[in-house]
Amino acid sequence: MADLTKVTHAQNIRYDWRAEALYIIDQTLLPNEEREIRLQTVEEMVDAIRTLKVRGAPAIGICAAYCMYVLARSIRTGDQQAFLQKLSEYGEQLNASRPTAVNLSWAIRAMLHTAEEHRDCTRDQMLDALYEEAAAIHRDDIAKCAAISEYGLSLVKDGDGILTHCNAGPLATSRYGTALGPILLGTERGMRFKVFSDETRPLLQGARLTSYELQRAGVDVTLICDNMASIVMKNGWVQACFVGCDRVAANGDTANKIGTSGVAILAKHYGIPVYVLGPTSTIDMDCPDGAHIPIEERDPEEIKNLWYEKPMALPDVKCYNPAFDVTDHDLITAIVTEKGICRPPFTKSLAALFKGNK
Ligand code: MRU
Repeated sequence: MADLTKVTHAQNIRYDWRAEALYIIDQTLLPNEEREIRLQTVEEMVDAIRTLKVRGAPAIGICAAYCMYVLARSIRTGDQQAFLQKLSEYGEQLNASRPTAVNLSWAIRAMLHTAEEHRDCTRDQMLDALYEEAAAIHRDDIAKCAAISEYGLSLVKDGDGILTHCNAGPLATSRYGTALGPILLGTERGMRFKVFSDETRPLLQGARLTSYELQRAGVDVTLICDNMASIVMKNGWVQACFVGCDRVAANGDTANKIGTSGVAILAKHYGIPVYVLGPTSTIDMDCPDGAHIPIEERDPEEIKNLWYEKPMALPDVKCYNPAFDVTDHDLITAIVTEKGICRPPFTKSLAALFKGNK
C-alpha cells in the first residue's frame, strides 16, 4: 500500500509556537526546491498571496487566518477600539491581495468576528481566541478535505482515468486536498487511477504542483499540455474530470483556474462527467451567478516571460491574462462538498447545504 504520509500531511502552512512565527512552503519554488519562508509583516503576507507563494482557495483562507493572528500580536495598543480598528485595516489589506477565491474574505471575516466577540477581554485572552479560531479553520479544512475525498471516491472506480486541471491537492488546501483528495485516498486504499494533469498555463500549477504531488504519492500521473485534454478524452482514457473551485455561486456557476470551463465543454462533448470538489467555505450564497464573480486579471509578463529563458513574445504585444474562468452550472455533473454531493438543480441542492446556518 502506498505511504502517503509525506504528501498528505504536507505542512504547507504552520504556526511555530517556539519561534512564534508563521511559515509557509513557498509554492513558487516547487518542484525544484521545498523551502519554507516566514511571514511577519502585512506587506510580506500580501506579497505571498499575490505572487502565489501560497495559493489554492482553502490554503489562502487558512493562511490569511494565521496572518490575522500574527498581525494581531504585533498591534501594540491598550485601547481596544484602536486595536480592532487596526486589525480591520490589516484585514482589508490582506483581502485586497486576490479577489476571486472567496475563502480569503470568509476567513478574514471569521477572525474579525472573533476579535469583535472578545472586545471586552484582556489582550492575552483576545490573542488566545484569535489563535484558536485560526487553528479551528485549519482543523476544519483537514476534516472537510477528508470528507470531500470520501464522497469523491464514491464517484469513480478502480482503474478509472481522471483528468484534473490546476492544483487542488494538499498544497492548495490541507492534507488530502479537494480534487486530488479522492485520488490520494483511493491510492492509500490500494486503488489505481490513471491521472492526466493539465499543465495549466500560464503559471503551470498542474506541471509544478499536481504532477509533483501525485508522482510522490505513487499515483500513475501523466502530464499533458492544456491543449491535449481533447485528445486524451477522445482516446477514451478519461472517465471523469475532477476540478477544484475558487468560488461557487448560488446557481452552481463555478470560478476555477483559467481553462477549467474549456475542460468542461470538451467533457460534455465526449460525455464525460465533470465533478467540482470544494468545501462549503468556497460556496458564496450571496453571489447569485457566475456573472457576479470577480475575476482576477494578472500581469501579462506571466504569459510572455515567466518560466522562459528568453521572452516568448514581443515586449509590446497585447495580452489578456485572466487567472480564472467561470464554468456554467449546466456543464457540471455534481458539486462535491464535505456535507455531501450536490446534483442539479444546484440552486436547490446548494441552498439545502446551508439550511439552518443563518
Ligand atoms: O491561482 P491559483 O493557483 O490560486 O488557483 C487555484 C485554483 O484555481 C484551484 O483549482 C482552486 O483554488 C481550488 S484549490 C483546492
